[in-house]
Amino acid sequence: MSTLFEATSLKGLELKNRFVRSATYEGMAAPDGACTDSLTGKMAELAEGGIGLIITSHAFVSPEGRARNRQLGIHSDAMIPGLQKMTEAVHEQGGRIVAQLAHAGAQTDRGISGFEALGPSAFEKEKGGLSREMNAADRVRIAACFGDAAIRARKAGFDGVEIHGAHGYLLSQFLSPHFNRRTDGYGGSIENRARFVLEVFEAVRLRTGKDYPVLIKLNSEDFLDNGFRQDEMIALSEMLAARGIDAIEMSGGTVYSGEKIPSRKGVLKEEGDEVYYREAAVQFKKRVKVPLILVGGIISFPVAEGLVEQGQADYIALSRPVIREPRLVRRWQSGDRSRATCLSCNQCYQPILRDDGISCEVDNRLRADKQ
Ligand SMILES: Cc1cc2nc3c(=O)[nH]c(=O)nc-3n(C[C@H](O)[C@H](O)[C@H](O)COP(=O)(O)O)c2cc1C
Repeated sequence: MSTLFEATSLKGLELKNRFVRSATYEGMAAPDGACTDSLTGKMAELAEGGIGLIITSHAFVSPEGRARNRQLGIHSDAMIPGLQKMTEAVHEQGGRIVAQLAHAGAQTDRGISGFEALGPSAFEKEKGGLSREMNAADRVRIAACFGDAAIRARKAGFDGVEIHGAHGYLLSQFLSPHFNRRTDGYGGSIENRARFVLEVFEAVRLRTGKDYPVLIKLNSEDFLDNGFRQDEMIALSEMLAARGIDAIEMSGGTVYSGEKIPSRKGVLKEEGDEVYYREAAVQFKKRVKVPLILVGGIISFPVAEGLVEQGQADYIALSRPVIREPRLVRRWQSGDRSRATCLSCNQCYQPILRDDGISCEVDNRLRADKQ
């Protein structure tokens, strides 16, 4: 049996294989952020398709941290009944599901959230608009929002939570000297830039208890001038490990990182070029003793298997490949180990922009051509 289909346990959470659905915004929540039946159906479909662990799309922990329309919310107790339906549907299929807790910080605007955008520093955004520098009261309030959201996740039956610390969202802005120009105890050295992330982690841990799996998604690096660097990611991972984080998912890039955005475009690369953050994973594994979930550009079974066999990753996360093939893991398990058919073309954002919810646009076009 392939090592990818070995059962493992993550802080007592039994997982049937090493495949993880990386958080993927579907644009399928209700306008107020509530979980809908169609979104629940998507999660059940993924669980039925064989993925061992699903990470939800980024769920906003407070309205001011909302990044998108039709984004999932975990900001109020009114969200719990809908979220509970989601977790029950996944569990019925034998799957496991973790809620991704997110605050977009400066990466949102009043048009979407209804609030002034907040960040570590006042920041002029590429697409216009300013974010306001957060003060001490903002930090305390937002850390508490993460803690409250985590307890809601637990009440709704999620098997754990993942703190979104990547991709240029609020926590990643604090980590990055590109966004964080502070001169107080929250800016400057990596210890200072990490402080808010650690406070958020402590708030989540405090509210959920020691036995509850808490994961975090981090950038391997920002790929920006004066951005968060790989050695800083490792230093931060060691700090989180010392405080009891249960797993780290490694990604990279921000919306400002040119071609090196988290979901890079790349059609039919050579197998050897598939893994975006392999070198960072190798360095991580030398120093950090926490399970590593690796995401980014992985579409071939032997590549995924090699990552685990060579000790470069413990879990393999997939986003776009399972948009096109929700049953990819089941297919691989049944013996058809040919490459995922995903072209990493990023057209999956198109149906979301049309307010149709996520789907593979390549397949949509193929179907339309046949009719
Ligand atoms: C449509 C879409 C939505 C995404 N939404 C999220 C999200 O909500 N949270 C997150 O951390 N990453 C999000 N990502 C990034 C993915 O989780 C992943 O890190 C990235 O796509 C690289 O993995 P892949 O090559 O397997 O697609 C999204 C990616 C896509 C394509």
